[in-house]
Amino acid sequence: IPVEIFDYIVFGGNGDLAERKLLPALYHRDLDGQIPLGARIIGASRTALSDEAYRDFARKALDSFVAAGDRNPEAVERFLSRLFYRQVDVKGDAGWAELKSLLDEAEDNRIRAFYMAVSPSLFADIASHINTLGLSNDRTRLVVEKPVGRDLESAKRLNALIGEHFREDQVFRIDHYLGKETVQNLMALRFANMLYEPLWNSAFVDHVQITVAESVGLEGRAGYYNTAGAMRDMVQNHILQLVCLVALEPPSAMDADALRDEKLKILRSLKRIDASNVEHVTVRGQYKAGASNGGAVKGYLEDLGEPTSDTETFVAIKAEINNWRWAGVPFYIRTGKRLSERMSEIVVTFRPIPHSIFDNAAGHVQQNQLVMRLQPNEGVKQWLMIKDPGPGGMRLRHVPLDMTFAESFHVRNPDAYERLLMDVIRGNQTLFMRRDEVEAAWEWVDPILKAWEERSMKPQGYTSGTWGPSSSIALIERDGRTWHEPD
Ligand code: BG6
Repeated sequence: IPVEIFDYIVFGGNGDLAERKLLPALYHRDLDGQIPLGARIIGASRTALSDEAYRDFARKALDSFVAAGDRNPEAVERFLSRLFYRQVDVKGDAGWAELKSLLDEAEDNRIRAFYMAVSPSLFADIASHINTLGLSNDRTRLVVEKPVGRDLESAKRLNALIGEHFREDQVFRIDHYLGKETVQNLMALRFANMLYEPLWNSAFVDHVQITVAESVGLEGRAGYYNTAGAMRDMVQNHILQLVCLVALEPPSAMDADALRDEKLKILRSLKRIDASNVEHVTVRGQYKAGASNGGAVKGYLEDLGEPTSDTETFVAIKAEINNWRWAGVPFYIRTGKRLSERMSEIVVTFRPIPHSIFDNAAGHVQQNQLVMRLQPNEGVKQWLMIKDPGPGGMRLRHVPLDMTFAESFHVRNPDAYERLLMDVIRGNQTLFMRRDEVEAAWEWVDPILKAWEERSMKPQGYTSGTWGPSSSIALIERDGRTWHEPD
């Protein structure tokens, strides 16, 4: 779908996110012919850089983060020619006039998308400068990276500050998990097929598991991560968004507010976890030295360079949704760094059959499972029982109907940011978080964080390269279930 002409202004334009994700994503969109002639990408930050120096920075970013096969020299040069840079002091006044005059050079009332790839402590200053210094036109959009706050109160304050300068329909709060292929496929699977929806409730679903496992550790982000921890970094946003998409009622249309209204209802139906039950339904962990990605790795404290820290790098929670559809169906969620492998998946396990007509010799009838793999090897597998082929009598086997996207479609799997960056230009907020959603997510998370403190629940150590603390296994095994083993 062609997009209208735009200027993308990236605050933090020479930062980590721009380097690893934003510039490579925009390059790929350009490669696919989606960036209109004359559109500009303007980096801004406090570093002094010329346009040329910024293009050099971008060239290196593409060298490192775009596959060699996708780097065609002509396309790279064309992309670099779209880049500009202005030095801006986002807290003070320096540089804003220069940025404004660059923007005003375009006289076609183009879309202006301001991307805040900076520390959240700068969001409010940037929003207010854009507005009060007249950088905004009637087609301005603001893209806000996570974290939106560190608790309910700070999230509300930040949303209110942004709201003083921008209407909600101009604000795009990114959760890049919503741009992942399998996550969108979850919508297709649920609402473009007749098969699943009638079974998608407590009468037929036994439980749901969501795992977002990473093998990496701190990756040089110690300063931020140690003040956040896995709960704020992953659960409050990415994982709760996944819970919402699995659990929501069918929206009336694939429309931004219809979808977000339904997500909000799920967030508000999450059963409260506080000091009365926190020890029973949550697990916190912190990685210790071990082995990962084929080599020895240090523990969290060593990575951090501090003697102590109570920050968790692993969380497991047994969550429940108090509504008619899901009452009594546990949603087991877990996420962590330095786990056994990088692997994210959603697993829906259906209830056992009510009565087996097969004798035990035929084999054990296993529960049907729908496994949606977010990464790596994106795809969906529906596990079913079938008869083992051959004349040897009735023998049962558990086999998957396998739809691995790469094999089925032979296409490159686009990065989540590619879709989301263009949705901003299209003005499509469906895959972005609305203000009330972010706040409702904090309303569930805050009491858990508080209860950890009240109950002095320190993170338990786990060896790097494992699946987290043993109490995470106990959390699910207590209910007679096990974590799904990735295949
Ligand atoms: C980010 C977190 O939002 O998501 C990181 O801040 C995490 O800590 C990352 O590593 C995971 O994203 P992905 O797309 O690699 O699963």
